[in-house]
Amino acid sequence: MQSRYSLLSRNKKKKWPYFVSGSIAVVLIGFIVIWVGMNDWNIDKSIAALGISNKVEETVIEEKVAGPVTEEKVEETPVVGQPLEKVEEIDMSGAKGYEGHETLPEVPTYVEGVLIASKKYPLPSTYAPGESKEAREAFERMAAEAALSGYDLVAFSSYRSFDYQVQLYERYVNNDGQEEADRYSARPGYSEHQTGLAFDIGEKLFEEHFARVSFGETEAGKWVAANAHKYGFVMRYPNGKEKITGYMYEPWHFRYIGEDLAPKVYEAGITLEEYFDL
Ligand code: DAL
Ligand code: ZN
Repeated sequence: MQSRYSLLSRNKKKKWPYFVSGSIAVVLIGFIVIWVGMNDWNIDKSIAALGISNKVEETVIEEKVAGPVTEEKVEETPVVGQPLEKVEEIDMSGAKGYEGHETLPEVPTYVEGVLIASKKYPLPSTYAPGESKEAREAFERMAAEAALSGYDLVAFSSYRSFDYQVQLYERYVNNDGQEEADRYSARPGYSEHQTGLAFDIGEKLFEEHFARVSFGETEAGKWVAANAHKYGFVMRYPNGKEKITGYMYEPWHFRYIGEDLAPKVYEAGITLEEYFDL
């Protein structure tokens, strides 16, 4: 027969591993819950914020590109600098913009040598040039200049194929409905990203401003807005121009049109639609 002492000691031996592993599990679960909570309960964002590697980060962000920047999101965005009341009033008239342009063409449209992709001027579904080398080099030059002022710029999305835009647009329509999705996402064939000349720009380590109106309120966002034209880029969807461009304010979306033309469009203070009377 076992003594009372030996039974007790055996029970003791059995319990401590449970206590240790239980404590580790509680700490781990607690950390995960707090971390995901700190990242807006967004799993992709939480993983990206762990900074496992730049490659992973960029891939994850690319998938979230031009994600919903709804009124709700604008209200949630911390106010830095300019008050956000200045963000464009919601006006659905003309936001849709596809009327009479529902069919994709056989060839892309060029105006004065500039490739156009908009709700009125779509691209052929087969148009697949990849990212423009010239635009990438211009972006790298701009990023090097921005770094001197302390801004570490990153292009979190550039070329997107027709098929990838199909996936993105479907996801946004499922999430927000077509009317709302049409205000911030191009339908497949209508995206400037398919030209290989559009760059979505953000600041490294500040993913919370990626594809968000708040980027325009950051110092880095202001720097890009004020300097991108010197490197051939223009902001395509400025605040207050939704009826003209067909899209909500996107302070992160820049289009490469070349170093000759971009300063002219910038100095005129107008959109590409207005400049070319599209
Ligand atoms: N977010 C821009 C409009 C695009 O989807 O191309
Ligand atoms: Zn974009």
